[in-house]
Amino acid sequence: DSKHLYTVIVLGASGDLAKKKTFPALFGLYKNKYLDQNTHIIGYARTKMDQATFEGHVSKYIKIKTEADKVALQQFLKLCSYQDGQYDQDKDFQNLEKHIVEVEKASGSTARLFYMALPPSVFIPVATSLKRNNYHSFEKDGILTRLIVEKPFGMDLESSRKLGRELGALFNEDEIYRIDHYLGKEMVKNLMILRFANVIFGSVWNRQSIDNVQITFKEKIGTEGRGGYFDEFGIIRDVMQNHLLQILSLVAMEPPVSLSAEDVRDEKVKVLRFIPPIVKENVLLGQYGKSEDGKEPGYLDDKTVPHGSKTPTYAAATLFIHNDRWSGVPFMLKCGKALDQQKTEIRIQFKDVPGNLFTGLSRNEIVIRVQPNEAVYVKMMNKEPGLGMKTIISDLDLSYSSRFNDSVIPEAYESLILDALNGDHSNFVRDDELDAAWKIFTPILKSIDQGEIDPIPYAYGSRGPKGVGEFVAKHGYTRGEQA
Ligand code: BG6
Repeated sequence: DSKHLYTVIVLGASGDLAKKKTFPALFGLYKNKYLDQNTHIIGYARTKMDQATFEGHVSKYIKIKTEADKVALQQFLKLCSYQDGQYDQDKDFQNLEKHIVEVEKASGSTARLFYMALPPSVFIPVATSLKRNNYHSFEKDGILTRLIVEKPFGMDLESSRKLGRELGALFNEDEIYRIDHYLGKEMVKNLMILRFANVIFGSVWNRQSIDNVQITFKEKIGTEGRGGYFDEFGIIRDVMQNHLLQILSLVAMEPPVSLSAEDVRDEKVKVLRFIPPIVKENVLLGQYGKSEDGKEPGYLDDKTVPHGSKTPTYAAATLFIHNDRWSGVPFMLKCGKALDQQKTEIRIQFKDVPGNLFTGLSRNEIVIRVQPNEAVYVKMMNKEPGLGMKTIISDLDLSYSSRFNDSVIPEAYESLILDALNGDHSNFVRDDELDAAWKIFTPILKSIDQGEIDPIPYAYGSRGPKGVGEFVAKHGYTRGEQA
């Protein structure tokens, strides 16, 4: 694939995602020479914009730290151009085609990466227009086509399957790259190495040694301006069904036969298929209200949120994996907006030490902090230094900021776009994986949508709804000293 020179076409180029993630990631790759220095980028959206406005748009969220960055940005912008058009008009996509062909003639590019940073309502219309007007077969025309698509991939099993069928009628599975940007995060990519390149973890990674697993996502911000989108989906569809479940599958899957994309994804799908649908008793929902001091608005104060909405902004759910490795081990997924801190972490808690040789013991834990301040640490008992034989809990600490130069940690989107350019599907979601994920969540989402589970209110900036502590305790998590 490296022999191909790409033209990248960003559909939805005036939107938030393109501005905040896609263009900065493309620039990062360009600046660090991962992108061929002759890669052209074409933006397409409905908004009319001249070149200068578009350049402002592209650079808005790009961080310039050095003089070299500044120079690189000027060169990068020369590679960017814009074309406006509707999302369902063939003549507009024919104009886009002319634009692409011109660029291809000038640069010698032989591959197209279409990046769909679009709202779900125009997803299929755009894919259809692309297929009709901008698609070439590699065999016939010598032009390679790849398509990056972004969630939401449907609302439930049924709508996801419908979307899959419609997209599948237009593009082959090997041309489609479904992004879950958590799969591009450094610490999520590290999971396979931690598990399968260390003999010390392998033999304890099972129900004989592990008591429970918690995967937690916390954000300080509320829905700020995204209330319209968010209210339709809720936190489970927004974060849990995709990002947290992806992490779970990497924590729980069996070792793959090889690192090939299909071998890795075969194992991920397999472990998901061992998880029965979540039951109501194992779910706790919350919705944020105003902050304690009244300064931060509640979810329902957001003008884009329908009056009286019961959409959860917080959710905790416990899943079980019915296979030999994990039977009986609770996997608790927790996620929420407008909480006290921003943090994503995986916490693997081990069982109590058998016997009663020592007192005052805490359980071992392996904690993988995904963000911020990437780290892996192991909570373990140690002798308190000094005379006597007192035990103390301490950490074996691999914090990236002190061990590695943490400024080299790439953005998730950089990693994923590079993978797509190289034709590597390992960190993208396969159609059957998506299907398996929806099967786990669809029944509980139906109950929630029908208003069968009321969200518990919590204050903006707090630790979440009352009862979360009891919820994790109920599934075996213990904090501090063992009884
Ligand atoms: C997105 C969700 O997929 O992930 C957002 O739609 C959420 O609601 C975001 O804020 C979190 O991503 P990150 O990389 O900032 O942790």
